[in-house]
Amino acid sequence: MTQFFEPAKRLSLIPPYLFKEIDDKKVEVRAKGVDIIDLGVGDPDLPTPAFIVEKLREVVQDPGTHRYPAYSGMRGFREAVARWYQRRFGVELDPETEVLTLIGSKEGIAHLPLGINDPEDINLMTSPGYPVYQMGSLFAGAHSHLLPLLRENGFLPDLHEVDPLTARDAKALFFNYPNNPTAAVADKEFFARVVEFCREYRIIAVHDAAYTELAYDGYLPPSFLEVPGARDVGIEFHSLSKTFNMTGWRLGMAVGNQEVLAALGKIKSNIDSGAFDAIQLAGITALDSDQSCVKENCAILQERRDLLVGGLQKLGYDVDYPKATFYVWLAVPKGMTSMSFTTHLLEQAGIVTIPGMGLGAPGEGYVRLALTVPKERLQEALARLARLG
Ligand SMILES: Cc1ncc(COP(=O)(O)O)c(C=O)c1O
Repeated sequence: MTQFFEPAKRLSLIPPYLFKEIDDKKVEVRAKGVDIIDLGVGDPDLPTPAFIVEKLREVVQDPGTHRYPAYSGMRGFREAVARWYQRRFGVELDPETEVLTLIGSKEGIAHLPLGINDPEDINLMTSPGYPVYQMGSLFAGAHSHLLPLLRENGFLPDLHEVDPLTARDAKALFFNYPNNPTAAVADKEFFARVVEFCREYRIIAVHDAAYTELAYDGYLPPSFLEVPGARDVGIEFHSLSKTFNMTGWRLGMAVGNQEVLAALGKIKSNIDSGAFDAIQLAGITALDSDQSCVKENCAILQERRDLLVGGLQKLGYDVDYPKATFYVWLAVPKGMTSMSFTTHLLEQAGIVTIPGMGLGAPGEGYVRLALTVPKERLQEALARLARLG
């Protein structure tokens, strides 16, 4: 059949989908009747807390919520974000100019480059990482310069390693702590180094803070905006997705530098029409709550983490207890690659993981496991691994 149309050239720039092979294998293994344990997906299995669902049920009855929302988000939601940042991080935000509502943080991350980049710009970003930093940059015609996250540096980028000529040409730096996929955390000293670096080279700091609320053993991950000077150089993306098990609701926020938010807001106002007001109203209830639901969620994830990581260590695997996120970053056994180990686990144990190299070349040597299945399934996964020997 002749091709009906020629897709845009930019689509051919999207890197090949590395998980195709795994997806095919998954179908093959499932067809053999194997009960697959999927530790691949970064999507909470636990439900949104009932009081948030109840609030949606109530406000959706009001026809006032059925109309077009305000582009930058309901004033009430932006105020709730400011209150939450104040309570949680001690960070003051002006709800009018320093908070922008997003239809999930992925939306804002993907659109930001259209507001800040010209074609041929360079964006720095940590790797392995959330693929949207690279894809959003690509759609805006910007090049991605990857900063490797290595174990010997605590999975933090070494900013001294960035060639000054590249740094001078760079427009933005995307970074994410607590980190997907390595589960590494960053302290305020690191954030202060980012501020210094971005100030020196006039680079926009773009911090993705999606996982700050999923943390264990009493650890409280900081916001980038806690560091002096941060809002002069950058913004932070946050989301209700992981904090309140609300991935399907699509509600997030960008906070910080007014000029950068105005650029993102201008792009958004020409593309989307804002997040559903009823969802924002339910979001206010979530943010203004006493956060006990977040604590309960973390307690469940911590139990799963202890079970899985403890069990893996007993079996001789090289893996650390994550302080935050619901990911476990497991070093693959000697002689294997992240892809061959992923295939091995799927074929021999029916366990799905994400090969590190699929999230960026520096992720080679690791696989990512997500704590998004109940304890019994993790126990079963460990039993199967023990049988593998
Ligand atoms: C690091 C990171 N940032 C952002 C997102 C996007 O989250 P959402 O669009 O649901 O807010 C994800 C989702 O998996 C993520 O892992």
